[in-house]
Amino acid sequence: MATTLITGGTVVSATGRGEADVLIDGETIAAVLAPGSQLLGTDVAASVDTVIDATGKYVIPGGIDAHTHMELPFGGTNASDTFETGTRAAAWGGTTSIIDFAVQRYGERVQDGLAAWHEKAAGNCAIDYGFHQIVGGVDDDSLAAMRGLVDEGISSFKLFMAYPGVFYSDDAQVLKAMQVSQETGLLTMMHAENGPAIDVLAAQLADAGKKAPYYHGIARAWQMEEEATHRAIMLANLTGAPLYVVHVSAKQAVDQLAWARDQGWNVFGETCPQYLYLSLEEQLGAFSEEWGQFEGAKWVCSTPLRSSRDGHQHHMWQALRTNDIQMVSTDHCPFCMKGQKDLGLDDFRAIPNGIGSVEHRMDLMYQGVVTGKITLERWVELTSTTPARMFGLYGRKGVIQPGADGDVVVYDPNGHTRISAASHHMNMDHSAWEGFEIDGHVDTVISRGKVVVDGGQYHGSKGDGRFLKRGLSQYLI
Ligand code: URP
Ligand code: ZN
Ligand code: ZN
Repeated sequence: MATTLITGGTVVSATGRGEADVLIDGETIAAVLAPGSQLLGTDVAASVDTVIDATGKYVIPGGIDAHTHMELPFGGTNASDTFETGTRAAAWGGTTSIIDFAVQRYGERVQDGLAAWHEKAAGNCAIDYGFHQIVGGVDDDSLAAMRGLVDEGISSFKLFMAYPGVFYSDDAQVLKAMQVSQETGLLTMMHAENGPAIDVLAAQLADAGKKAPYYHGIARAWQMEEEATHRAIMLANLTGAPLYVVHVSAKQAVDQLAWARDQGWNVFGETCPQYLYLSLEEQLGAFSEEWGQFEGAKWVCSTPLRSSRDGHQHHMWQALRTNDIQMVSTDHCPFCMKGQKDLGLDDFRAIPNGIGSVEHRMDLMYQGVVTGKITLERWVELTSTTPARMFGLYGRKGVIQPGADGDVVVYDPNGHTRISAASHHMNMDHSAWEGFEIDGHVDTVISRGKVVVDGGQYHGSKGDGRFLKRGLSQYLI
């Protein structure tokens, strides 16, 4: 088994930082040592196969992106990243595990949806991967099948209060699924937007000739998110189900979560980099030579980007600091402009919803450290440690300690990254982050002991990643 020593760096965890060397033996972290340690009278550095000099750099646990949609069939097309391209891009960006969403729709069996996702991912991933289960058709069969998910290593499922006719569940279905959540310990993940009301607003806008991408954000008003978030919280409280609200963007939805947590209720929230940096006016209202007003389609996602005028972004950063929001995932759901987003050229309702960011999450969130909005430790907690705890991976993932998987990133705070579609590794013909200048750089990425990215080169292979059979969330009470 090959041994690797990462030496000279500052090891950062969710609880602190310190100078230490990290020894990886095979696929596993063997020791965290005082710098320059000796073992059995010999310099450790002299006895390992590979030494990585991390002087002046941070050594952090590999990122865990708990919300991705590789190859998702959605909006009349498929998300443009396959498990192969998307996980490779994730590795480039310092993410060493993803949790993707297997899909079940009305009339389909949950078991078949899960099997189809295993088929898509197996042998193709660059990094380790797990699944949540989308239950897009709650009925007696799917409710029964949900009871078998924990044994399959799938300890969370997603419901949608949005997208009528696609993944939507009404309140009765949500209630029934949450009852199963309460009984089994499956964590309920909720897309909290009032879909039926949004569809009425969207149709009214389109009928009035307001069909540009900008109106996607108008139809999906913050009231739709606040109301659905509140409803999800109350249904979860009634049933005793643990609740995790995905891709929170509105400050009013954050306040609902904060209120529920202040009651001592077991609810959690995730946000995404797009809700911390991008806005309704600037992005959804954008104009370009090539696309005209349709340029805004690059940022059509749900929940939508929020107005820069109403303080949503500031509120969200604050919530990350105060732990009203506990995690940052990407909701990576990429679509190309040509041949995919342009399905909605004449009507925003037909634009496939989604933004691709799996490669940039660690960098984008590090900017919060640079600007003093979060600490280094909180950066690690939001992007790796809490995702591991929330989704039953902690100990193996999310921490640098003996016995954990050798998933480690060497991050250079003095490096620089310029984001562009010309240089990113995601399978997209544009970048929602074009021209973003990042203070910091992912230098080296080690995935289960294998150096997959180093010195600007990719050393991994398709199939390096293994399926992660997850345990129950550590946040269950
Ligand atoms: O716009 C988004 N979020 N697309 C992916 C599907 C979802 O709702 O997460
Ligand atoms: Zn969603
Ligand atoms: Zn999503």
